[in-house]
Amino acid sequence: MRPLKMIAEMSKATVHMKDPEHLEQILESIKDSGPNTLQVISDFDMTLTRFAYNGKRCPTSHNVLDNSKLISKTCQAEMKNLLNTYYPIEIDSTRSIEEKLPLMVEWWTKVHNLLIEQKIRKDQLTAVVKESNVILREGYQLFFHHLHELDIPLLIFSAGVGDVLEEVIRQAGVLHPNVKVFSNYMDFDESGVLQDFKGELIHVYNKREGALLNTQHFQEIQSRHNVMLLGDSLGDLTMADGVQDLQNILKIGYLNDKVEERKQSYLDSYDIVLERDESMDVPNAILQYIT
Ligand code: C5P
Ligand code: MG
Repeated sequence: MRPLKMIAEMSKATVHMKDPEHLEQILESIKDSGPNTLQVISDFDMTLTRFAYNGKRCPTSHNVLDNSKLISKTCQAEMKNLLNTYYPIEIDSTRSIEEKLPLMVEWWTKVHNLLIEQKIRKDQLTAVVKESNVILREGYQLFFHHLHELDIPLLIFSAGVGDVLEEVIRQAGVLHPNVKVFSNYMDFDESGVLQDFKGELIHVYNKREGALLNTQHFQEIQSRHNVMLLGDSLGDLTMADGVQDLQNILKIGYLNDKVEERKQSYLDSYDIVLERDESMDVPNAILQYIT
């Protein structure tokens, strides 16, 4: 039977594909190569976490801090203003990535500087994550456990805040040894107060640079020529650019917001587009099939 017929979840109403035949070839090719040749590269915010729950938006890893008691009311208001200014630009399908790039750097830089001013303490992060409304997508346990069981490396590549997202995964009990994170990590001084962010800034549209800077990671898993990539932004498509001798890449994109305006561009770039789908059902079913 044809692969797409064998994966029941692929007939969900939320699933869209531009080229099912090409997708079937990728699925077969990855399946034939076996789990030892596979790695998974996933975005975090709004890909592994839910976009909405009961009609309300869920927080990103940045929002976990923005909305918390660690941030003064004036600073919260400033961050909200920045979000209202720059998020519409991030998802604007009428502007090019080149046009958005400097604006994204501006947004992230302003927010990180505001966060630094707030003198956030490392030991407060556990409580702040616990009190937040961040929710991993339905079926996340199966996703993380399956990859762990088969020893398939999972790289979480996020323009969010590494310390926060790691804590989210830790509290959910799925920070297994096969998980590696590239993200913006906080730099604390010797008394545990935030003083800066480490390394090069990662924002939504420079993940390619991040991938090329971290070649060491990809060298360690260089026998894994097949990639399953999960994202929710067109900026996530370059997350696998550090993989050498890439054989097959299967790209799954969550289309959460501005669905009608962005659907065609998502269909043109992702092999599978999941429209307003808050679950991991499709990635899980595909993993079951190919491994
Ligand atoms: O994990 P991921 O790479 O998706 O994280 C980036 C997301 O965080 C972006 O989609 C952006 O909308 C969001 N963001 C935010 N607040 C900021 C900066 C980015 O919610 N200050
Ligand atoms: Mg995202």
